[in-house]
Amino acid sequence: MRILVFSVILVVGAVFADEHWWQHANFYQIYPRSFKDSNGDGIGDLLGVKEKVSYLKQELGLDAIWLSPIFKSPMADFGYDISDFRDIHEKFGTLADFDSLAQECKRQNLKLILDFVPNHSSDEHEYFKKSELKQDGYDDYYVWHPGKVLSNGTRVPPSNWVSVFRGSAWQWSETRKEYYLHQFLVKQPDLNYRSESIVNEMKDVLRFWLSRGVSGFRIDAVPYLFESEAVNNVYPDEELSGKTDDPDNPDYVVHTHTQNLEETFDMSFQWRKVLDDFKAEHGGDDLVLMLEAYTPLMNIIRLYGENGREGAQIPFNFEVLSNTFKDSTGKDFYDNIMRFWNVLPSGRFANWVLGNHDNKRVSTRLGVPRADLYNIALNTLPGIAVTYNGDELAMEDVYIPWSETVDPAACNSNPKDFMLYSRDPVRAPFQWDDSTSAGFSTNSKTWLPVSPYYKQNNYKLQKSAPRSHVKIFKSLVRLRKQRTLREGGFDMKLVDEDNIIVYKRELQGVSTIVVILNFHKSTRTVNLSKVFTGLPLEFEVITSSLQTNYVDGSILNRDVITLPADAAIVLEGTV
Ligand code: GLC
Ligand code: CA
Repeated sequence: MRILVFSVILVVGAVFADEHWWQHANFYQIYPRSFKDSNGDGIGDLLGVKEKVSYLKQELGLDAIWLSPIFKSPMADFGYDISDFRDIHEKFGTLADFDSLAQECKRQNLKLILDFVPNHSSDEHEYFKKSELKQDGYDDYYVWHPGKVLSNGTRVPPSNWVSVFRGSAWQWSETRKEYYLHQFLVKQPDLNYRSESIVNEMKDVLRFWLSRGVSGFRIDAVPYLFESEAVNNVYPDEELSGKTDDPDNPDYVVHTHTQNLEETFDMSFQWRKVLDDFKAEHGGDDLVLMLEAYTPLMNIIRLYGENGREGAQIPFNFEVLSNTFKDSTGKDFYDNIMRFWNVLPSGRFANWVLGNHDNKRVSTRLGVPRADLYNIALNTLPGIAVTYNGDELAMEDVYIPWSETVDPAACNSNPKDFMLYSRDPVRAPFQWDDSTSAGFSTNSKTWLPVSPYYKQNNYKLQKSAPRSHVKIFKSLVRLRKQRTLREGGFDMKLVDEDNIIVYKRELQGVSTIVVILNFHKSTRTVNLSKVFTGLPLEFEVITSSLQTNYVDGSILNRDVITLPADAAIVLEGTV
């Protein structure tokens, strides 16, 4: 029996009058190498993604997908080293395949967002080859310097800057007889944003893909765009952090000259303007920017825009991702949410991110028992939800031994420590079903091994099970299309030894949604009338963690709501 006929009949997928399509959207990150292989070569591709558009849109109910890089690349950093910003890597397909994917997305009304990697190119990009040869006009496309000559005559790098992937951020070029800067791999030379030509070329790259129908970009590695300039031809050293005595470790220095420079904010605003101008000229829906910046929260807030200039609609909020762990308490999680929420400027929209291709999976990092709890939080907090592919199934990291490790972040370390750095485990193939290679590929050999446990956890199984992680995820996405989660207020409290979070999303005259997250390692009972006043007497169960016995649609008394360890529940009531 449903008591909420009123809200249930609201049109699913409707965008309300004054809403931007993105402001309450479900975004989903696809790692194309691992999502779906359409031609049996063991590597995921664009036509594979196209096959799954109906999974994404019709089954999950998502609004938008963003694809990790699909561009031409020697794959030193699995596509984050681009050798042609305007072409598709042959393993992923062709421009025609891209167009057909874009068309399919359009047909099913799923927005398509691409990864834009502006900080660096591949050293195999023609820009770099020309710059290395000092060809006219390309000379300053990268950051070049002859280095320092010591009193004993040896030449050393221009400064002590350290790459994110270990070792000096400067590499000697025998061809040009100068060092070039690379904040990431040697094969990822930094583009020089102090060159006007580069700034213009990269804006053209944005326009190229906008013309092919994309709805925006996720921008990679934003804090690294600019570095301090040389003064009297000398680059300033960074201060030692004192955190480690390993000079190859990026933590060896404090990155005041190589990260978060003022110019970075300005450039982000310029890119937003490219999108807004494009929309003004061509019409259509809003075009969005999602920015990847692991940077202090105040910088994230600045990236929304300032002094009348618009920035990104979605500067990724990594507060929760970076500060939540397996043993996090309710108070820890509450603090992680509030730290962001409290500083969110008015008129901006919150976004919540729990996973991506650079971090351990949610289920591995935060524990399978809490997988639903975190998906529930992600989807019921106010604003935008971003999910990494496979997290809807509570997929876990796949152990990949040193011998099969391919991620440069791990390969640049050693057989003892590589697991600390390896991003391969989070990038293993998607588990579709119980057939060969989990239905990811017809090939039994895939670029990274498939989980040995795929027969116990895959989409097909979860779809046919009476209850499953993905079914919970789908209920949440469905609920987000209704008005209460979109327009309702947000009031969050910590109860029961600060280890249970209860929050209320209330929309006058429509409904009240209450979410309870139990961080205790034991079963607990919550009396909602002691947490909030004026609540409806009864609530309908919308969804709850797998380990509960609640039946969706059943009615509960607000005074006694029992939840097992690590479980969460979403309730809806009308006054
Ligand atoms: C970003 C990407 C990461 C990549 C790096 C260099 O952090 O998410 O995967 O290795 O930038 O492009
Ligand atoms: Ca840079």
